[in-house]
Amino acid sequence: MQNEGSYYSRNSRETVALGIKIGRILKPNDVVCLTGELGAGKTTLIQGIAEGCGVKDYVTSPTFIIINEYQGRLPFFHFDLYRLNNAAEIADLGVVEYFTRGGVCVIEWAEKLAGLRPKNCQEIKIEIEVISEGERRIVLSKKTQD
Ligand SMILES: Nc1ncnc2c1ncn2[C@@H]1O[C@H](COP(=O)(O)OP(=O)(O)O)[C@@H](O)[C@H]1O
Ligand SMILES: [Mg+2]
Repeated sequence: MQNEGSYYSRNSRETVALGIKIGRILKPNDVVCLTGELGAGKTTLIQGIAEGCGVKDYVTSPTFIIINEYQGRLPFFHFDLYRLNNAAEIADLGVVEYFTRGGVCVIEWAEKLAGLRPKNCQEIKIEIEVISEGERRIVLSKKTQD
């Protein structure tokens, strides 16, 4: 696992490069929970994570579709919860069932999961903070649930 801690990115290329390192070491049933304002760079980081997971397709933000599925060395599930209002709506979509399907889940606006955050699988939390137009702080932490 890319070490826990705080990373500094000067541009989207550096963010993609960090994502690739993260993606390379993800394992089945890892759940990557991203938070950060609109335009912070969640999708940009995920493009790198997908590449690191061996996804050859270009990953885009699922604007109208909440879940996009790709195939890399593992199944790769990309969620964007932006348009969902609460945990009940997320539960109705069966998001939690994806956590243990043997792939990797990456979730934008993961704070909306509230009580649906992964149990029984490794959660990797990534918070992206905007420092300036080009600069970001990317804070990575792992949480193994009981
Ligand atoms: N260091 C950086 N890391 C990531 N994106 C950056 C960075 N600096 C500028 N950007 C820009 O910020 C925007 C991030 O967009 P996006 O990844 O779609 O954000 P989100 O998914 O969080 O809404 C892009 O236009 C990107 O070019
Ligand atoms: Mg996005």
